[in-house]
Amino acid sequence: LASIEFDLTKVQEGQQVVIKWQGKPVFVRYRTPAELQRVIADDHASDLKQPQTDAERTKPGHEKYLVVVGSCTHLGCVPTFGAGDYGGWFCPCHGSHYDASGRIRKGPAPLNLVVPDYEFASDTRVKIG
Ligand code: FES
Repeated sequence: LASIEFDLTKVQEGQQVVIKWQGKPVFVRYRTPAELQRVIADDHASDLKQPQTDAERTKPGHEKYLVVVGSCTHLGCVPTFGAGDYGGWFCPCHGSHYDASGRIRKGPAPLNLVVPDYEFASDTRVKIG
């Protein structure tokens, strides 16, 4: 499988950059301290359909960055950044709400946004795939 590297200095705090990997959009999001606090506070929320802690979805020491495949787990639309009831993403196709950890919280999508295989090549570079 082809892998790609991404330079994290290209993503600003509070923003995401969308890159293409294997024909799919991948969201690289640099979360604010407030966003991080909120997703950790929700680690055991009762509305998680696929319970996962934020730490299970990030890399130790690099928790501010979230890397997910940008494809709604319902029918594959591209969710909108920063929208929805949980401040993560909102899928406009049928109304799925994801939090800033990419976890599905409300709507028809059954699963969390998928975290692809990736690793930190350095503090400012990730290698996806
Ligand atoms: Fe996202 Fe249906 S494809 S809610």
